Amino acid sequence: MDKSEKLALGLSGLLLAAFFLALIYAQVARGIEVPTCITDVEPFTSDTLFQIDENEYELHMITRMWAFEPSSVTLPVGSTVHLYVTSRDIIHGFKIEGKNVNLMAVPQTINYIPVTFNEPGEYFFACHEFCGAAHHLMAGRIIITDNEEDLARADLPGGER
Ligand code: CUA
Repeated sequence: MDKSEKLALGLSGLLLAAFFLALIYAQVARGIEVPTCITDVEPFTSDTLFQIDENEYELHMITRMWAFEPSSVTLPVGSTVHLYVTSRDIIHGFKIEGKNVNLMAVPQTINYIPVTFNEPGEYFFACHEFCGAAHHLMAGRIIITDNEEDLARADLPGGER
């Protein structure tokens, strides 16, 4: 084997090892969740927000041309949201600004990721897959607040699922 071939082989081996270590570091040390595709559940057809525990919510997000349902969600500070995303028509994207959430919204499929909001503020989300004429209008926001009035107005779901 040529010397330069050995070098290339050695370097690619080292790179693979580095990527693998980075993956383990992200999962174990940083606790970064990897989005999951759920294939054994029928996709939902209506958007819903359930409270499943104190500070824990389950959000069924529907994407369609060209909107998110729901397009606005208000939740208290410290909420963990179990996000389930599907599409009613074609492939869309779902990305929350400033959060490690970047999902595909695929028809007949559900993608899942949990996300926790410890800081109050408005978290903008948008479609990041080009999906037609009004793709650029496909956006919404998650409002995280500790203002009792805003939360009361948001009409949070109190019941069990
Ligand atoms: Cu939906 Cu772009």
